[in-house]
Amino acid sequence: MTDKTRPTSNGTVESLLTEQRVFRPLPRVIADSAVNPADLKLAHEKADTNRLAYWEEAAERLQWYRRWNTVLDESSAPFYKWFEGARCNIVHNALDRHITSPNRNKLALIWEGEPGNTRRLTYFELYREVNKCANALRELGVAKGDRVVIYLPSLPETVISMLAAAKIGAIHSVVFAGFSAHALAERIEDAKPKIIITVDAFYRNGRVLALKPLVDEALEQAEHSVEHTIVVHRTHVTVSMNPEKDLWWHDVMREKSYEAITESMEATDPLFMLYTSGTTDKPKGVVHSHGGYMVGVHHTFTQVFDNHATDIFWCTADVGWITGHSYVVYGPLMAGTTTFIYEGHPLYPEAGRVWSVVERWGISVLYTVPTLIRMLMRFGEKYTQQHDLSTLRLLGTVGEPISPDAWVWFHKNVGKGRCPLLDTWWQTETGMIMISPYPISVLKPGSVARPLPAVDVDIVDDTGTSVPTGKGGYLVIKNPWPAMITTLFNDDETYKEMYWSRFAGQYCSGDIARRDEDGYIWVQGRADDVIMIAGHRIGTAEFEAALATHPLVAECAVIGIPNAIRGEVAKAFVVLKEQTDTLYFMDEESETEQQLIEHVRAELGSIAVVGAVDIRDALPRNRSGKIMRRLLRAETTGSEIGDTSTLEEDPFWATTD
Ligand code: PRX
Repeated sequence: MTDKTRPTSNGTVESLLTEQRVFRPLPRVIADSAVNPADLKLAHEKADTNRLAYWEEAAERLQWYRRWNTVLDESSAPFYKWFEGARCNIVHNALDRHITSPNRNKLALIWEGEPGNTRRLTYFELYREVNKCANALRELGVAKGDRVVIYLPSLPETVISMLAAAKIGAIHSVVFAGFSAHALAERIEDAKPKIIITVDAFYRNGRVLALKPLVDEALEQAEHSVEHTIVVHRTHVTVSMNPEKDLWWHDVMREKSYEAITESMEATDPLFMLYTSGTTDKPKGVVHSHGGYMVGVHHTFTQVFDNHATDIFWCTADVGWITGHSYVVYGPLMAGTTTFIYEGHPLYPEAGRVWSVVERWGISVLYTVPTLIRMLMRFGEKYTQQHDLSTLRLLGTVGEPISPDAWVWFHKNVGKGRCPLLDTWWQTETGMIMISPYPISVLKPGSVARPLPAVDVDIVDDTGTSVPTGKGGYLVIKNPWPAMITTLFNDDETYKEMYWSRFAGQYCSGDIARRDEDGYIWVQGRADDVIMIAGHRIGTAEFEAALATHPLVAECAVIGIPNAIRGEVAKAFVVLKEQTDTLYFMDEESETEQQLIEHVRAELGSIAVVGAVDIRDALPRNRSGKIMRRLLRAETTGSEIGDTSTLEEDPFWATTD
């Protein structure tokens, strides 16, 4: 087991293993919290006695068109059917029901563009925009079960499109706008959407990045063709529009009715798919359903973040990732909260932007990623002191292990020692937070605390046997949960194989963790060949497939290496093709390396950061000829920990011109 445990950031694993500090909740936090320690104990007891009754109670807090026959139908496991027989639509709970409640005129969404322009939409206004968009999509022939690809950065239109697609029963597939044309083409090929929604261009780090041309390029590459591309007009960049297929957003939205019928869906019908990386060379489309996802996300949002009616909730994740789906869009809106969205780079135009946003909008809950914390820490306390952060009451992190030092910095300088800091563990596949403290929990920096009530987690060895306290093992989930992945798009077999075959009947997360004597879980990183770059997953196989398409590359192997800001980046070991080898001189080495780095970025997108390229004569292989990445990893780690030489200005989105 130990040889599979690798550090995930600068010294993270070591420091997690020795961390001893604890932070107790302040009496005021307990008094203000809807769930006090006794309630939480009771919730655990209830869930332990009857897990399904616990989830049924959570489901009853939402509105359904028809009640379920059974809470969980396990007859075709691992294709679990939550709330089988029920009819619902998540958009009814995220929007429709608020229109007849006191939330009607409350702000649903506050959006700030990078240049500083803003937009605010009440629940009523958002409802109308979504209805108009739903009518537009219906008019263009989009029907229940059709796919709509949304290739947009974090804009109000991203949220509107997602909700509109879901409202009419279409399946949305948001593709992160930092992905390349090639990555988009792959997703189009798999999802076969009827419509793509995109933008002319958007602002990132002071630059205007054109997106529509990438859609055109992707559609040229893909065999599948879409019926229409809808283009949001965001900037004054001129983009080419195909008069037969391309439509402006403002044109399709014009004169549409403010009312649209919400499609009644089976609880098990797909709501969206989101591509995520695994150990294969292509990303897989994780499918989530209307009913189960709705219950899991609503419950965890309200419980973990202890939703207050006056909250302004800022989850810094891009809407294009699962965190954005669950805790920028669906969770806050179902709870009737005001969700805040920011378009741009967190350090633009200066390092105080995040704190200025908190101050100006009065953000009360800030949910972010360790990469951003590490980035902001570099500037010390200068900026956190310049801004009034007193509206904050709760902090959260997700996506990668946080080192205790970064945790303590965030807790002290941003939370001023009074805001609980919740380290939440979950995945694209889990759909909802699975392991996390509550605001009233005792916190240990670097630990994700205990599983939520009704979430049944274990840490096991290679044979599936629970490991003793303090020992590392595979993190598995022993019982189904409502917001779970329902399958991989068009690939039931891989779904079974990837998640359920390793430990029979248990969901294999692919992570390594240990549990301490208090039952607190310490996640140490991935057990498989997946690299976590700024909290984003990319498989080494995807890097290798991208490198292999470069004409100079004969063979290659990719591993993850620690990086001080991003957590991890990729390192590529490359053997060049023979004919080029003879022409290859030492002074050309850095040029070739740079070319390969650029090539991967062009193939996969800007988050696919190759931090180092090592050109070799041969790669180590075992007797059966398999490349031994483990040797390359062992040789590399240790020597390069803390190397920041590859640091880019934007760890989430290394922008290119
Ligand atoms: O390795 C774990 C890491 O992120 C992976 C899931 O990535 P993704 O599906 O992209 O979703 C990220 C956001 C939900 C996990 O397998 N991870 C997530 N949260 C944590 C974490 N690692 C350590 N601590 C966390 N809190």
